Amino acid sequence: MSSDTKHRVFVTRNIPDAGLEIVQAACETEVWTEPLPPSRELLLEKISGCHGVLSLLTEAVDAEFFDAAGDQLAVVSNYAVGFNNIDVAEATRRGIRVGHTPNVLTDATADMAFTLLITAARRIVEAADHVRAGEWKTWEPRGHIGLDLCGKTIGIVGMGRIGFAMAKRCYGGWGMQVLYHDQYTNEAANTELGARQVDLDTLLAESDFVSVHVDLNDTTSGMFNSEAFGKMKPTAVFINSARGPLHVSADLHGALSSGEIFAAGLDVTDPEPPAADDPLLSLPNCVVVPHIASATISSRNGMAEIAANNLLAGLAGEPLPCWVNPEVGEDNGDNQTPDR
Ligand code: DGY
Repeated sequence: MSSDTKHRVFVTRNIPDAGLEIVQAACETEVWTEPLPPSRELLLEKISGCHGVLSLLTEAVDAEFFDAAGDQLAVVSNYAVGFNNIDVAEATRRGIRVGHTPNVLTDATADMAFTLLITAARRIVEAADHVRAGEWKTWEPRGHIGLDLCGKTIGIVGMGRIGFAMAKRCYGGWGMQVLYHDQYTNEAANTELGARQVDLDTLLAESDFVSVHVDLNDTTSGMFNSEAFGKMKPTAVFINSARGPLHVSADLHGALSSGEIFAAGLDVTDPEPPAADDPLLSLPNCVVVPHIASATISSRNGMAEIAANNLLAGLAGEPLPCWVNPEVGEDNGDNQTPDR
């Protein structure tokens, strides 16, 4: 490509200006500005001939996607920290760089996990609905009783950046004991939060609140099923701010409606979005919000900036600031440690 020709890129949704303007200044850019994602057919048409794509977690980035884009595709920059929508092994095999947006959404996501925890434990949505429905008649000594938080036990499944930030809130603010389950030991959690690394069964049995923060992959998909809910306390609250398919929706519904667990708070669902008549939405003890954990100004702007910089670095054949598959750079010596 000559130096005065700009790279062609497709941005699959209207991301914040903080990143969009960087991309538009450097590239021949097409942005999908509709509120809903493009159909698969249209997406494949739009990316044809592109050198880079700035994608969202709503796009399946797979062999079909790469074929439709063509051999010139150099980089896919995901506007998300998670990248379960991308077939990274296939991208790597084809020498396509993949970027993501860690760190800038850690606190916002942990805040949301904690918001869901306290909202579900104190039955806030139910209580607010009661008021809106005009049913608030008097102060009720036995009404709207929820759970205490102070001094309880939080079980963190996946003690990475976000799991740690959630544990820190629970430990520092509410004096909770911290249990965690992870394939890796988190020394900072052990020393700073007095956290105890345990097997999953122990965590499920001993935790008052279980908050999941793992990646979605073949091993973790469906890990919260009826067997797992059956091991939790009847007073337990389940929080999922990671990915919907980590829990089995029908099993969660069963556990919540039978009283096997007390409540759940979900920022993510399976499917996403849920159908209007999804049984989970009719349960008073299930709080569901529409995947908004990273929806703060600084997080979304930060994600946009990182995604833009990943895209431009990939187009220039340089190491991505937040690179999912740095092994792609091995041949030309610009490999770096994966940022996972
Ligand atoms: C992510 O970044 O993976 C979130 O799910 C969306 O912010």
